[in-house]
Amino acid sequence: MPRGKRVGIVGAGNVGSTIAYSLAMLGACHEIILRDNKMEIAKGKALDMSQAAAAVRSHTVVSVAEKMSDLTDCDIVVITAGSPRLPGMSRDDLLMINANITREVIVGIAKYSPNAIIIMVSNPLDAMTYVALRESGFARNRIIGMAGVLDSARMAAFIQEKLGYGGGQIRASVMGGHGDDMVPLPRYSTVAGVPLSDLLSEAEIEEIVQRTRKGGAEIVALLQTGSAYYAPAKSTAIMVEAILKDTKQIHPCAVYLDGEYGYTDVVSGVPVMLGANGVEKIIEVTLDEREKAMFASSCQSVQALIDTLNANNFFQGVE
Ligand code: 2OP
Repeated sequence: MPRGKRVGIVGAGNVGSTIAYSLAMLGACHEIILRDNKMEIAKGKALDMSQAAAAVRSHTVVSVAEKMSDLTDCDIVVITAGSPRLPGMSRDDLLMINANITREVIVGIAKYSPNAIIIMVSNPLDAMTYVALRESGFARNRIIGMAGVLDSARMAAFIQEKLGYGGGQIRASVMGGHGDDMVPLPRYSTVAGVPLSDLLSEAEIEEIVQRTRKGGAEIVALLQTGSAYYAPAKSTAIMVEAILKDTKQIHPCAVYLDGEYGYTDVVSGVPVMLGANGVEKIIEVTLDEREKAMFASSCQSVQALIDTLNANNFFQGVE
């Protein structure tokens, strides 16, 4: 009997466990394996979720990997491990702490789940996706960062709030890195196919763009003890499902650029086609001069983080 699909989740904090819960409720895979240093808590959550899965007659079983070497033969591994963003902290403050954590986790995954597709969720997202690529040695189609699905969902929610209608019919589009200079694209955002500019004033659209850019910080400021997790988790689950079901749907994801949009050796958010092989196609959207400039500045911010990692000899000896 062929074995069922297995999804590993490293980091069973709020984001990791909510991803697991979301996948378990969908019955998206046979097995979800949580890996966290706080093992008893992870075990408690795994039991709780397996029971929730039984309640909805989902076949998914949630278990715990006691060590990285138990996280074997996963089809997808989601990495949420890392220090979360606290009030007043930028995503970039997390750079060195989370780069080291990411490296340790990636080395384990490359060894024990060598065929997995990796979805990065830890911040700073684009730089961590770059670290995952470099440290795993995997082909770039198998290393995907989750940010664009989340940022687009936030923009869609803000559009709905501003309009007071259109929920479920909004297609918002955000490109670039998952930072304060991400690139919301009102020109490519619609409500039931109607361009945003036909429904809202320029000032209203600009307000939505700015709020989208600070969408994560708005929630951090409210929660005080951590960052958002429902929307980040659901966005990740959407990507996992697209890959497991080989849907070939287009989602904005953080990927390594190798010439696309004129950039090389940097990670940024662009629309990609997700399927069984991970990123199966990178779509190049036509940007106007202003959008190109915003995308350039976002790529530069990610590049600055990669430069900092290099300046700290982070990758030394690996190549
Ligand atoms: C967010 O945008 C903190 O990056 C995380 O919610």
